[in-house]
Amino acid sequence: MFGKKKEKSQIDKEQLELIQNAQHRIKQKKRLYVHFVLFLIGALFLVLANTVLGIGDTVKFFGIEWFVFAIFGWLFFFLYHIFNVFVTHKFMGKEWEKAQLDKLVSKQKIRIEKLKAQLEKEDIHIAKTEVYNKELNQEKQNVTMIVAAGENDAIGKDNKLIWHLRDDLKRFKTLTSGHHIIMGRKTFESFPKPLPNRTHVVITRQDNYTVPKGVIVVNSLDAALEVSKKDNQPFIIGGGEIYKQAMPIANTIELTRVHESFEADTFFPKIDASNWKETANTFHNKDENHKYEFSFLTYKRN
Ligand SMILES: NC(=O)c1ccc[n+]([C@@H]2O[C@H](COP(=O)([O-])OP(=O)(O)OC[C@H]3O[C@@H](n4cnc5c(N)ncnc54)[C@H](OP(=O)(O)O)[C@@H]3O)[C@@H](O)[C@H]2O)c1
Repeated sequence: MFGKKKEKSQIDKEQLELIQNAQHRIKQKKRLYVHFVLFLIGALFLVLANTVLGIGDTVKFFGIEWFVFAIFGWLFFFLYHIFNVFVTHKFMGKEWEKAQLDKLVSKQKIRIEKLKAQLEKEDIHIAKTEVYNKELNQEKQNVTMIVAAGENDAIGKDNKLIWHLRDDLKRFKTLTSGHHIIMGRKTFESFPKPLPNRTHVVITRQDNYTVPKGVIVVNSLDAALEVSKKDNQPFIIGGGEIYKQAMPIANTIELTRVHESFEADTFFPKIDASNWKETANTFHNKDENHKYEFSFLTYKRN
């Protein structure tokens, strides 16, 4: 949509004519130089042909060797060539010059057309490659939302988690270790300090938001995914605002469903069964470390 504008040639007709004239003059002078070299070699050859090889050594005009007339004849022709190039600025007549010029212009036109076609082809190729790379990246990257939610989709209250489930935290650690974890500013602030062995990407609209060393700050979810693009599985770890924005983008949801309803101020968006397929489901009983029953569920986008 916002493709580059094709640049129009800035060379107008007058400039084109000047260029063509200059090219024409260069050609004329080159020819004159070649003529000069040929004349020297030719004259030497004529002298040797007569004196060394004895060709026509009996032929003389007015007592002078024939090659002297031949060399002078050629010299006259060469001088005439010089005169035409430097004095009259032509060599083979106006018609001939015009024909040469037309030929040159039409050749240039063909070349320009070819270059245009080539450029168009390259443009199309570049655009196709960009689309292909984008698709490839999207395919390769498994953007995963990881969340623990109650039966009523409750995930937090007063910027805190509502429960403490040891095995859920362990699973969170196992799955996210070594990866990028993308989060909203509020979730980041709910941690006492950054989690070890993970690259934190914090989304905020604030311009000068300060964070500990190593934490990356961005201004949108797109930018968060961009800085995580080398990670084949970046995790979106919340909270409510960020989950909502990531729902259409994510490929996987790792959900810990806590089998209880909770009073909360932050919720996970509804998982639309027409878009998502449950691929794993492991039930966990309550015990001394786990106040509630819960299940680990994996969803993949259809
Ligand atoms: N149960 C779970 O698995 C789980 C997981 C994570 C979090 N939580 C809970 O969720 C709650 C926090 O969630 P929340 O929804 O209140 O906040 P949040 O999503 O963590 O962060 C919201 C903040 O993110 C920034 N933000 C959001 N969208 C943005 C955008 N498009 N561009 C730029 N910045 C954007 C804004 O920061 P600025 O205001 O700085 O601009 C916004 O105030 C807490 O209670 C937490 O404990 C639960």
